[in-house]
Amino acid sequence: MLLFALGFLLVILQPSTGQFPRVCANVQSLLSKECCPPWDGDGSPCGELSNRGSCQNILLSQAPLGPQFPFSGVDDREDWPSVFYNRTCRCEGNFMGFSCGECKFGFSGLNCTERQLKTRRNIFQLTTSEKNKFLAYLNLAKGTPSQDYVIATGTYAQMNNGSNPMFRDINVYDLFVWMHYYASRDTLLGGSNVWRDIDFAHEAPGFLPWHRVFLLMWERQIQRITGDENFTIPYWDWRDAEDCEVCNDEYMGGRHPTNPNILSPASIFSSWQVICTRSEEYNSQQALCNATSEGPIRRNPGNNDKSRTPRLPSSAEVEFCLSLTQYESEPMDKMANYSFRNTLEVRDPELDTGFEVWSHQCGVQGTITALLLLATPRLIQARIPLAFLDT
Ligand SMILES: *[C@@H]1O[C@H](CO)[C@@H](O)[C@H](O)[C@H]1NC(C)=O
Ligand SMILES: *[C@@H]1O[C@H](CO)[C@@H](O)[C@H](O)[C@H]1NC(C)=O
Ligand SMILES: *[C@@H]1O[C@H](CO)[C@@H](O)[C@H](O)[C@H]1NC(C)=O
Ligand SMILES: *[C@@H]1O[C@H](CO)[C@@H](O)[C@H](O)[C@H]1NC(C)=O
Ligand SMILES: *[C@@H]1O[C@H](CO)[C@@H](O)[C@H](O)[C@H]1NC(C)=O
Ligand SMILES: *[C@@H]1O[C@H](CO)[C@@H](O)[C@H](O)[C@H]1NC(C)=O
Repeated sequence: MLLFALGFLLVILQPSTGQFPRVCANVQSLLSKECCPPWDGDGSPCGELSNRGSCQNILLSQAPLGPQFPFSGVDDREDWPSVFYNRTCRCEGNFMGFSCGECKFGFSGLNCTERQLKTRRNIFQLTTSEKNKFLAYLNLAKGTPSQDYVIATGTYAQMNNGSNPMFRDINVYDLFVWMHYYASRDTLLGGSNVWRDIDFAHEAPGFLPWHRVFLLMWERQIQRITGDENFTIPYWDWRDAEDCEVCNDEYMGGRHPTNPNILSPASIFSSWQVICTRSEEYNSQQALCNATSEGPIRRNPGNNDKSRTPRLPSSAEVEFCLSLTQYESEPMDKMANYSFRNTLEVRDPELDTGFEVWSHQCGVQGTITALLLLATPRLIQARIPLAFLDT
């Protein structure tokens, strides 16, 4: 399904995750448009001397864009990453990463030849110490600066086409919040104009593969900073749930005793600050989110518009979604009817709301967190949390 989905994706938009390797966030890389860093193991670009990969011109799809985005040459995310870099490492075999220094997901070992099986588990089946370890890992990620990646705090034009780099450090957790924001943000058109009907991660066939890679990258980063190579994100199976079962202090944080919109001081998440929540402010300033703290996590499970989304999906609704045999249907966006992707994500053709939107609207939104893993039976079987919320 992954390849199938990617094939379609290209018809609409190139995928864009928006990560910037620190080693390429400088004038020299931006002006030459080359991001082919040396691999630590042998010092050669892309580990070429060890046959890990080589520096290549990036190849762009020639497929036409969908009608949803009637522009060309106005958004840095078009033909990602070609506005910033047109030569990058192409890795061989099981190697992966900006310098071919990593293994493809599912592989490990010095030569990336060892198959590695990791299991995603139901959060309610973790022991107390496993669960506490998970929460501690999240907190560690929130407090650990990313060594490998930085975020862009300006557009390519604002960077003077590369001669004035605008990048900033970010912690490992917020890196993913920012990437999710960057892929989803509106197009800045200059003056006070923006184009809102654009999203490089949602409402199109790329929704599933994008989020799948996103979570795999996120797990990989947590594995790196904790040294726990077996770390996986647990999932919450919310089928038939009456309320947000993880919204308590044992798990993702309960309500504050006097302010239902914020978290209980007994939760470690009550001291977290969110970023990238003020899209209208960034739009009016024609600026990018620069990851400045924007206040505590706001969450009020159950405080949703019950006439629109009365509850979380039932098992039967999940079964209906899984019975759809077409991955995607025209027009391959949020209006697609009987598309598996769109039913899962945005809009059940019978119920008028899909699972992702559903879970946002059922009031479990407004927190990160990881666990709002949209698990469906088949995805549970495959241990694939589909997505997590991020601010
Ligand atoms: C890549 O960008 C550089 C710098 O703008 C340019 O000189 C070069 O021709 C480009 N290469 C390709 C293959 O487009
Ligand atoms: C990795 O590959 C290199 C070069 O092919 C080889 O010399 C080395 O023994 C391999 N190491 C392992 C652990 O497989
Ligand atoms: C940046 O590049 C664009 C497109 O090539 C060009 O129109 C613009 O003048 C350049 N701006 C600067 C400041 O060099
Ligand atoms: C990861 O799991 C494998 C297989 O169960 C085990 O051999 C290894 O010791 C584990 N690694 C850590 C760091 O726990
Ligand atoms: C970061 O962005 C905020 C909101 O757009 C803005 O008020 C602030 O000045 C920016 N900070 C820096 C250091 O650019
Ligand atoms: C999907 O179905 C709805 C309800 O039947 C209909 O209003 C809408 O036009 C359909 N959308 C497409 C793109 O066919």
